[in-house]
Amino acid sequence: MILVTGGAGYIGSHTCQYLKEMGEEVIVVDNLSTGFQDSVYADHFYDLDIRDEKLQKVFERHPIDGVIHFAASSLVGVSMEQPSVYYDNNLVGTLRLLDCMRAAGTENIVFSSTAATYGEPKRIPIEESDPTEPTNPYGETKLAMEKMMRWFDKAYGLKYVALRYFNAAGASKDTSLGERHNPETHLIPLILQVPLGRRQHISIFGEDYPTPDGTCVRDYIHVIDLAQAHYLAYQYLKAGSESEVFNLGNGNGYSVRQVIEVARDVTHHPIPAVSEARRPGDPAVLVASSQKARDILGWAPKHTQLKEIVEDAWNFYNK
Ligand code: UFG
Repeated sequence: MILVTGGAGYIGSHTCQYLKEMGEEVIVVDNLSTGFQDSVYADHFYDLDIRDEKLQKVFERHPIDGVIHFAASSLVGVSMEQPSVYYDNNLVGTLRLLDCMRAAGTENIVFSSTAATYGEPKRIPIEESDPTEPTNPYGETKLAMEKMMRWFDKAYGLKYVALRYFNAAGASKDTSLGERHNPETHLIPLILQVPLGRRQHISIFGEDYPTPDGTCVRDYIHVIDLAQAHYLAYQYLKAGSESEVFNLGNGNGYSVRQVIEVARDVTHHPIPAVSEARRPGDPAVLVASSQKARDILGWAPKHTQLKEIVEDAWNFYNK
C-alpha cells in the first residue's frame, strides 16, 4: 500500500491515477489547501495536514510499504514574500512525515523535488551533480528536504528518491485531471486562458535574454511521464536500491515564444502576446539531462512533443 501526500494536487493526482492503473493500493493524505477532492484517485482519502499528529494514526491503520511525497507549497513568487510559510509547510511537514515513517517502520520515500534546487544553472543541460544554489525559499526548502532525507538515510536507513522536475505540463488523456492552480502562474495554462476568453493576452516576461529569440527557454515534461517516473522510483526502492536524485525533463528547450506559437496552432486562436519586463529570478535557460533516470530507473518519457503536451492541456480546459 502506497501513501501519497498531496495526492489531490496537480502532479500528485496524475501519479495516483497512474498507480491505480498499475494495480497499486493507494492512500491519499491532502489538506485540500490547493488540491481538489474530485481529483483524488485512491482507495482511502484523508483530509489531513501532514503536520497534524493524526498522521501517525494513518500509519497505524494501514500497512504502508512506501510514501510518495508531494504535499508542499510550490510557488516561487509567494515563497519570496512568505518564507516562513514555506519553511513551516515544506520542512516541518516533511520532518513530521519522516518521523511517522520511522515510528511505523516504513523505509521508502519518493519525493517531489524541483529544478529550482539548482538556481541559476552553470551549464546546460543540467546534471544531478551540478551545483545546487537556490535563488528563492521555495527551491531552498526543497533542497533542505532532500538533505533531511539524506541524513535520515545515514542515521536510520531511510531510503529516498528525489525527483527534480523541470516544467510539468499537460493533463490526463481522459481529461479527468489537469492543472488547476489559483492563482495560476504557469505559462501554458495562462496562455490557454486567452482562447478560453478569460484573459485578453499573454504577457511575455522579458525578450532580452541571451536565447535565440530573447525569451526564456524551458524543458516541458508531460505530467503522465512524471507519474510514470514516480512509479518506477517506487519500484526501484522496493527492490532494495540505494537513495538517489534524478532530474526529470525531456532534454529539449522551448522558448516562451515557441510555446505561444504551438498554442496558437493547437487552439486556432491568434493569442495576442504583449512584451513585459523580466520576472525577477527567472533563469534564461533551464534544460535537464535526464540520462541518469533513463539509465537507472529505465524511465522513457512517451509524450515528448510540445504539441501533444499543449493539446492535452487544451482538451482538459475545454471539457
Ligand atoms: N512566463 C511568461 N508569461 C507568463 C508566465 C510565465 O512569459 O505569464 C514565462 C516565465 O517568465 C518563464 C516561463 O514562462 O520564463 C515558464 O514560466 P512558469 O512559471 O510556467 O515556470 P517556471 O520555469 O518559472 O517554473 C518552473 C516550475 C517551478 C520551479 C521553477 C524553477 O514550475 O516549480 O521552474 O525555476 F521552481
